[in-house]
Amino acid sequence: MTQGNPQRRWDVVVLGAGAAGLMCAAEAGKRGRSVLLLDHAERAGKKILISGGGRCNFTNLHCTPANFLSENPHFAKSALARYTPKDFVALVEMHRIPYHHKTLGQLFCDGSAQAIVTMLEAECRDAGVETRLRSAVERVERDADGFTVYTASGAVETRTVVVATGGLSIPKMGATGIGYDIARGFGLGIVEPRAALVPLTLPEPVLEHWAAISGVSAEVTATIVPAAKRRVAPPVFREKLLFTHRGVSGPAVLQASSYRAPGDLLRLDLAPGKNVFGPLLQPGARRDEPTTSALLRAHVSQRLSDRWLQANAPPDWKNRSLEQMEATLHAWTLPIAGDEGFSKAEVTRGGVSTADLDSATLQAKSVPGLAFIGEVVDVTGHLGGHNFQWAWASAFAAAQAL
Ligand code: FDA
Repeated sequence: MTQGNPQRRWDVVVLGAGAAGLMCAAEAGKRGRSVLLLDHAERAGKKILISGGGRCNFTNLHCTPANFLSENPHFAKSALARYTPKDFVALVEMHRIPYHHKTLGQLFCDGSAQAIVTMLEAECRDAGVETRLRSAVERVERDADGFTVYTASGAVETRTVVVATGGLSIPKMGATGIGYDIARGFGLGIVEPRAALVPLTLPEPVLEHWAAISGVSAEVTATIVPAAKRRVAPPVFREKLLFTHRGVSGPAVLQASSYRAPGDLLRLDLAPGKNVFGPLLQPGARRDEPTTSALLRAHVSQRLSDRWLQANAPPDWKNRSLEQMEATLHAWTLPIAGDEGFSKAEVTRGGVSTADLDSATLQAKSVPGLAFIGEVVDVTGHLGGHNFQWAWASAFAAAQAL
């Protein structure tokens, strides 16, 4: 941490030294701006450190605007086009950080996520950014020449402010709602922040049956079935499902959870693209429980097969009943009680309304010089490196306009 002249007026003060804040501070510094980076934590980039199971899934090679949720699905396009996954990969390679492709375009560090934080801190240092940790931001006010940022340890003056304070997920990592408070204070709209990429809970009678196989996983497709009609149908995700002691999780469910509204259902296909019970319909085939169970066990684990057949066994062995069982397996619908909340959510959906921000500069349309970047904005990525790509891209776009 370096101490500067408290009397000076900065070109840029960045609030939050997470993924987006570190990136924006470095890029603005490279453009010759005097930059102060503030964070209330004792170290920068704490969420980067725990991301991707400690290896940071830092981008996704297949990232497109279709990988994001927002009230305005077009908003992210401009920033995503100007700073692509390849740009971030070039930075990672320049810093000689070993990485690998895991699956579905996801890039991870070979070693610790610390390498990404160290890289961003080095970029900030080289660009002359001053970082002040343990500096809790309390509020921002506009003055004649710019803004005053009030922190627990004093006020700083600046020409521009970038709010990169993230969302509400994982409060014990230092998440706060300060970004939303600042936006509200300047009259900007907030799309209700909700937990996303979050495990779902099942209602009691249903949970009792499925919690018994907590820890069991399966390759499925998952989608949300909306209770009320929507303009665009929620996407279908083909990944892993995991039963938990409170309900269901795993990448397929986390992805689907971002599209959930109260009253919606979860629909799963336990054997995507497969005809599982077809052999039972063959002339002369044995139609009994052991044969049915063996057929299902060829696609899912024995414990899941047993539980599923307990709940969905056909009432008789007629063709119609067997066809119905096949249909249920591919469109198995579960009621949802809720989700495990911000303490378990990987990200927050909703946030500062894109209607009030300029998509090219990320600045508030009504408050030039005040930008919002990263997770605090109502732009939420799918699982798999998309949220970091939004953090890098929105940070880069904002920095070009400061
Ligand atoms: P971020 O939360 O990173 O930073 C906000 C900063 O603001 C923090 O440093 C915080 O301390 C600071 N702050 C908050 N209030 C403040 C105040 N009042 N004063 C001063 N400072 C304040 N994404 C991905 O793409 N790949 C992955 O592998 C993962 N993995 C992953 C795992 C887990 C467990 C979680 C919780 C999340 C992920 N993510 C992820 C999501 C990703 O971490 C997230 O989207 C980005 O960190 C968002 O970057 P931001 O900079 O916007 O917020």
